[in-house]
Amino acid sequence: MTIALYGATGRTARELAPHLAARGPIVLVGRDAAGLAAAAAACGGRAQYCVARSDDVDALRRSFAGARVVVQCASLAADDAARVAACTVAAGASYLDVCADASVAEAIAAELDDAPDRAGVVVCPGVAPIGGALAEWLAVAALRRRTGELTAPESIELGFCSAGLASTPGSLRSALRMLLATPAWSTRTIDFPPPFAREQCFSFPLGCGRLGQLFPRAAIRTWAALAPPTIGSATTARALWVAHGLLRSGDASHALASALAPMLEAASIDRDDAPERLRFAVVAHVTSGGRTTAISAVGQRPYATTVAMQRLVVSAVLGEHGRTGIVGAAELIRAEEALDWLVAEGELRVFADDAGGPA
Ligand SMILES: NC(=O)c1ccc[n+]([C@@H]2O[C@H](COP(=O)([O-])OP(=O)(O)OC[C@H]3O[C@@H](n4cnc5c(N)ncnc54)[C@H](OP(=O)(O)O)[C@@H]3O)[C@@H](O)[C@H]2O)c1
Repeated sequence: MTIALYGATGRTARELAPHLAARGPIVLVGRDAAGLAAAAAACGGRAQYCVARSDDVDALRRSFAGARVVVQCASLAADDAARVAACTVAAGASYLDVCADASVAEAIAAELDDAPDRAGVVVCPGVAPIGGALAEWLAVAALRRRTGELTAPESIELGFCSAGLASTPGSLRSALRMLLATPAWSTRTIDFPPPFAREQCFSFPLGCGRLGQLFPRAAIRTWAALAPPTIGSATTARALWVAHGLLRSGDASHALASALAPMLEAASIDRDDAPERLRFAVVAHVTSGGRTTAISAVGQRPYATTVAMQRLVVSAVLGEHGRTGIVGAAELIRAEEALDWLVAEGELRVFADDAGGPA
């Protein structure tokens, strides 16, 4: 029951690998042989490694042969992620990733179509707390609290606030890709749980797992507080605000290209951000029948929470779920159970507000 980890030299994968290795054989896959050897050694000899670039279909398929699940943790652009997902399914394995980027989930769905059903495997994108499946679980739990069932709501507004997450080259790269993809900026304020406060948010194209397939996409709006003034990593705030300003200035692609290098350099200084400097919050406002239920989650360790979510979803995928195809985390694990488990693991605090009132 082998699990393959793609992007195995990165921070997310290095935190996840020992947990996966504890349940059985794992294969670490990526493009840097020396980094992979070091990552395998850190697993105490319980991991093998294979070199495969994300554009090398043959190497990807070879690396994934025999795996039951591939967990993709690299900061890939949409077309690269879709290729890795297609090679996973072609190898007869289920696919999970940690991408919050809506364009990645859309590219995977377009590339794979019904291939996962035909292969009898599961594809579950966006298993991550910020902009990923945590929002799917929160929104589904809020909706069931509001209506007792999963009828389509009038609106789902999701707010994300983080401090210190964009501290690796990969996460900053992904955040900037999403900034570039933002077609038109609109703003609103959202009340986040402490230590955040009422934060100014911008429309931001986050995938939120498979929420857009569970409910009409037009009903869902996603917002990010890019530089929360109440708390925050100075580097992240500066980098994202610079990018935001450049995007608004018009000449986005040229300006971003020249701004990217110093931003990534600054990000690498933050690479080992002290855990206490990291914070994130996710707020789901679900409006149905003219009344709104809000559920929010706040956590302190976005990488550890990602690892916990992956452990939970990997177990579900390897268990008896009877599902195939592209599915959301809320279709594999009941949202309330997933949230309770994350709270019990110490990863989240969850707050519910049933005050209702006009949306
Ligand atoms: N939304 C969330 O809550 C959340 C939480 C955690 C992580 N994430 C996402 O997870 C991803 C990784 O983040 P991280 O912090 O682990 O980043 P990281 O430490 O910088 O690692 C990035 C990894 O991706 C690999 N990579 C980058 N471009 C590649 C390419 N074109 N082909 C193959 N491999 C490539 C890197 O390989 P090299 O070592 O060879 O460069 C490295 O292994 C990001 O997209 C981030 O946004 C999301």
